Amino acid sequence: MTGRILVAYATRAGSTEGIAEVIAEGLRLAGYDAGKARICDAPDPKEYDRIILGGPIYMGSMNEVQRYCQEHEDALQSRIIGVFAVGMSFAGDDEEKHAQARDVLKKAIGQLTPRFSGYFAGMTNPEKLSFFQRTALTVVRTPIDDYRDWKAIKGWTEEIAEYLRRT
Ligand SMILES: Cc1cc2nc3c(=O)[nH]c(=O)nc-3n(C[C@H](O)[C@H](O)[C@H](O)COP(=O)(O)O)c2cc1C
Repeated sequence: MTGRILVAYATRAGSTEGIAEVIAEGLRLAGYDAGKARICDAPDPKEYDRIILGGPIYMGSMNEVQRYCQEHEDALQSRIIGVFAVGMSFAGDDEEKHAQARDVLKKAIGQLTPRFSGYFAGMTNPEKLSFFQRTALTVVRTPIDDYRDWKAIKGWTEEIAEYLRRT
């Protein structure tokens, strides 16, 4: 019995929320009782049977996800099934950038050992960026656009649903 599934996520500009919703919706379509909640609303992992956890990378860190993992390490260890990172580093095919960004997620989750790890390109919304943020992103040659790959996100969700069916 899988029970309740929580997709817990961090977001600053909203693009990860869209990803969390597509994951939760995919699991619901597969027949599971799944919902999403922002980490800043302090969802208690003990109230769920399975957890998927994700957030955006900002300046090479996933601080909010890292803090949540540290705070709830024991409860998460027995429940975590998937983790995901959202970042513009995944938008191109620069393997070195991908590897660095994958390491950011690895560092954030510490000792946790999820079955699935997802790496998704995100979105930069010029209207939500300050002049300095826009300049900083241009300097590090980060694309400013919506690169979210819904097909990849849905595919990852289906893999998790399939795994849950088997276990
Ligand atoms: C100031 C700033 C710093 C960022 N730093 C990184 C980074 O270090 N690595 C990365 O892959 N993406 C980086 N990004 C891209 C964000 O991760 C991406 O826009 C993500 O979709 C934001 O998620 P959110 O809308 O849920 O906050 C940065 C974006 C901004 C605006």
